[in-house]
Amino acid sequence: MSKFKTVYTCKNCGYTSYQWVGQCPECSEWNTFVEDVIASKESKTSGQIRYSAEPVKLSSVMTSPTKRITSGIGEFDRVLGGGFVPGQVVLLAGEPGIGKSTIITEISKSLKDINILYVCGEESVEQVKIRAERMGYEADNLLMLSETNAESIVSNIEKNKDVGLVIVDSIQTLYSDELLGTAGSLVQVRGCTQMLTNAAKSSGIPLVLIGHVTKEGVVAGPKVLEHLVDTILYLEGDSQHLFRVLRTTKNRFGPVSEVGIFEMTEKGIREVLNPSELFLKQRMLNAAGSCVTVVMEGYRPLLFEIQALTVKTSFGYPRRTASGFSNTRLQVLIAILERRAGVSLSNYDVYLSIAGGFKVNEYAADLAVCLAIASSVKDKPIKEGTAAFGECGLSGEIRQVPHQERRTREAGKLGYPNVISSDHTSNIIDAMNKAL
Ligand code: TYD
Ligand code: MG
Repeated sequence: MSKFKTVYTCKNCGYTSYQWVGQCPECSEWNTFVEDVIASKESKTSGQIRYSAEPVKLSSVMTSPTKRITSGIGEFDRVLGGGFVPGQVVLLAGEPGIGKSTIITEISKSLKDINILYVCGEESVEQVKIRAERMGYEADNLLMLSETNAESIVSNIEKNKDVGLVIVDSIQTLYSDELLGTAGSLVQVRGCTQMLTNAAKSSGIPLVLIGHVTKEGVVAGPKVLEHLVDTILYLEGDSQHLFRVLRTTKNRFGPVSEVGIFEMTEKGIREVLNPSELFLKQRMLNAAGSCVTVVMEGYRPLLFEIQALTVKTSFGYPRRTASGFSNTRLQVLIAILERRAGVSLSNYDVYLSIAGGFKVNEYAADLAVCLAIASSVKDKPIKEGTAAFGECGLSGEIRQVPHQERRTREAGKLGYPNVISSDHTSNIIDAMNKAL
């Protein structure tokens, strides 16, 4: 009997099956199953039960305050929860070309007193040098290792005692002779991640693994590596806009809902200190179809401009298109406006967008979406200095959302003192009267 068994694993959610299937029964994604191998039961040492660990009282466990290595870039430290923890393994995931290498180079630049081992499996050392030069970074603290063999990287981590941070760009390029499959395959990526994680834990050096995620899914997605790493950071944004959002989806050493906001520039990536101000900078005053809302990103309230445009339908079927907002939610809100607020939209195409190219997922934006649409249909701008937030119920009621006070305060601070929320109004008709 072979030591290994072939299974098929969903690269989106990690579900395994003994047969290849077209659609994942767990996450419903199509064509996400790839061949994978696992050790068969027979190969495990069976029959022997070893007793090695003893239970201890949790109250008797001593902890010492964790010394964090702060990157000096506020927005990055915020998502990590205050900086790197010794031995922490961070997976930095994102689409190719989004700026993962750029942001990690920016962090290396900021950590000028710490020696960094930079494993470049994807690019040549010259390419990394060109990027560093472009960003005005002398890179005195960067030790370059052009290597893709996982065992060799591990021995380098163990050898270089004065290294304070290890960066691997990218995990998809690594391979190990001990494992089956080619570089980038599920088995290799998972196995190499495990090896490097062990090295980080035993040496106490924080490790950043860069991983590519593509729209079609990945060979080994963050879901598959989720349990192996301490922290998963996603760098998001779209190629049309210069903003990038760094989001945590898992963090054993800090909060998970924090986001950091960055801007791509000619000379590297910069943190954005006052995101709301920047998003509202180009807002046109007294324009119909525009409403400001306050969205919580983690524990931070951010102001966004919601824009709606309604035009008479030229074909029989009206179009509803949203960018940066859920299309399904838009349909629901249009239905609420029609039935509960008497705004007739059956002959109108409705286009909705979040200015700046951001994605807003919170129900708190409902009210502003409704007001922006109503404002466009009536061709009447929303009163100056007005911001709105709140969830719209199917009966046309405005519901409370978390952190109302903080949102209100932030809106006031940025020049929107007239806030419309469930604190000020109870239904959509009244909210429209107040805003228009
Ligand atoms: P990169 O960090 O190489 O992406 P990833 O590692 O996620 O694949 O960034 C690629 C893009 O960023 C590329 O289109 C060039 C752009 N860029 C800038 O706009 N400014 C810069 O200073 C740098 C280094 C890159
Ligand atoms: Mg890169």
